[in-house]
Amino acid sequence: MPSLTQILSEQLTAGPLPFAQVMELALYHPEHGYYGAGPRRIGRKGDFFTSVSVGPLFGKLLAMQAIQEWQTLGETEDFTIIEQGAHDGQLAEDVLSALEGRPLRYLIVEPNARYREVQAKRLGDRVQWVESLAALQSGPLHAFFLCNELPDAFPVHLVRWSGTQWQELFVTAAFQFVPGEFSCAELAEETKQLPTDLAPGHTLEINLAMLAWIRELANAAFHGTIFIADYGLDAEEFHTDSRASGTIRRYKQHHLDERILDDLGESDLTTHINFTRLIDEATRHGLVQRDYDLQGRLLGRLAMPWLKSLEGQPLDAATMRQFNSLTHPAFMGRSFRCLILEKPAH
Ligand SMILES: C[S@@+](CC[C@H](N)C(=O)[O-])C[C@H]1O[C@@H](n2cnc3c(N)ncnc32)[C@H](O)[C@@H]1O
Repeated sequence: MPSLTQILSEQLTAGPLPFAQVMELALYHPEHGYYGAGPRRIGRKGDFFTSVSVGPLFGKLLAMQAIQEWQTLGETEDFTIIEQGAHDGQLAEDVLSALEGRPLRYLIVEPNARYREVQAKRLGDRVQWVESLAALQSGPLHAFFLCNELPDAFPVHLVRWSGTQWQELFVTAAFQFVPGEFSCAELAEETKQLPTDLAPGHTLEINLAMLAWIRELANAAFHGTIFIADYGLDAEEFHTDSRASGTIRRYKQHHLDERILDDLGESDLTTHINFTRLIDEATRHGLVQRDYDLQGRLLGRLAMPWLKSLEGQPLDAATMRQFNSLTHPAFMGRSFRCLILEKPAH
């Protein structure tokens, strides 16, 4: 069977492709994409850790937040926790266990049938599925939407400052980058907001898929809250000299490098998300910023009522270790950020 690199080589003989298309295939080609054939292992034996792979505490903290939102909305019967990017269902399992029998529904947005199968095996009839955010336009009417490390896995366009103009980067048949004219008007429009006083060669990612995603989420019917955790930066942090090659990286077996066109489909490709641009697009479409902070600080605040309820009893060693990993600045506390948005009914 041909590898993704072979398949792409053939396509690229017809001419260079925008990097976003190459990244889309590298991650989501149904057979050869890194996320195509089924959920890969995350954690020590996988290619990277996430807050979910640290242990069940992340899910417990999110469950406590969901319960609070449900109570604020009058414990309505249709209140639903909605997760997107649920992968192998681990976070859903952690959240559901921490609900301790409370009657909150759980819905997963999952376009990939193979992922749905794996999730169904793990979670059975405790959850329901929809294939895309479009389905949320007809309900539920009350919800807590959550995702961990979702938009960092969306395909991005790459743009480079030439010294006089922004140009898009395309991939050639030799698997090298060449600059060219923008492949779409929306990308050209986005680059108008970028600075023009950077050193020549400064490269940035433009995550148009993230912008389309938050607009679609804003169009969902539900009234409630959106929780987004991911690694990312504020806009100006992308413009420092130390970020001149952009934030896109390849992850394999916990090794991180910039060889993003090597062994396509076999390693994860991921970028830091631009939280400034995400919040800007969200608020333009009717969502309201409630909280945005480093993960360590925001999860610390979410955990406060629970920590107080322990009334001085010490946490067990495993929970303590997880709390540390999630919140300590040297681990996930600083590199990850969380954004909480309020969503009016649509
Ligand atoms: C970096 S992994 C994070 C997995 C999990 N949320 C965690 O934190 O361990 C990104 C996940 O997002 C999923 N994903 C990407 N685009 C998606 C989309 N449009 N809808 C649902 N899931 C998506 C991928 O299949 C993958 O499982």
